Amino acid sequence: MRRKLVAGNWKMHGSLSENEALLSGLLAGMADVKAGVAVCVPFPYLAQVQSRLQGSSIVWGAQNVSQEAKGAFTGEVSASMLKDFSCGYVIVGHSERRAIYGETDALVADKFAAVQAAGMTPIFCVGETLAEREAGVTEAVVARQMDAVIAKCGVASLARAVVAYEPVWAIGTGVTASPAQAQAVHAFIRAKVRALDATVAEGLVIQYGGSMKPNNAVELLGQPDIDGGLIGGAALNAEDFLAICRAG
Ligand code: PGA
Repeated sequence: MRRKLVAGNWKMHGSLSENEALLSGLLAGMADVKAGVAVCVPFPYLAQVQSRLQGSSIVWGAQNVSQEAKGAFTGEVSASMLKDFSCGYVIVGHSERRAIYGETDALVADKFAAVQAAGMTPIFCVGETLAEREAGVTEAVVARQMDAVIAKCGVASLARAVVAYEPVWAIGTGVTASPAQAQAVHAFIRAKVRALDATVAEGLVIQYGGSMKPNNAVELLGQPDIDGGLIGGAALNAEDFLAICRAG
């Protein structure tokens, strides 16, 4: 039985004082949460979340990482630096990084490898744009994104990773994939992995992301192949995020 994992992706939001209010709200409401819970925060706030969440059941992590181990890469942050702050998870391949910063499938695979080499768990994002969905190539796009990681790291690497299916057209738009639409792609992802390794496929946590809110979380998380959520907007409000966590 896979344990559900609900992760907040704070994106470029927050401040020391806002984070403090959010974190204390989360900590106060965790008693009846059965799902695993994580928050992925901007780099400058890792020390804050580490000191605030240490000893709690909430895991913390980052939203990006360099594919390089160290060196003259101005502005970059390495996986070992994130490990220094006891990050559990690192998001790689978010569609905003692919679209705005030109991250390719190959670069995302390199980042995935860097996160695992440092002993952390990648939250590996895949998903199609609206144009790709309308062109009927959703499965081909998701397969291509997954194949880049499988080719570089092997299917066994997915035993130490989380996959997040995030249809780009649903992110931050308020338009959620229907439970049936999401389930179909989740089942496709699991079947693709099962064809290579059945054990890895059964254990693989596949999150849904894209306008998951308290009012749709129960139905989405009730689908057989949806094992959690990657939450953007609703992760910035303690009550909303906790409501989603409780649905898991
Ligand atoms: P959203 O973002 O919940 O605001 O749609 C999800 C994500 O981008 O991870």
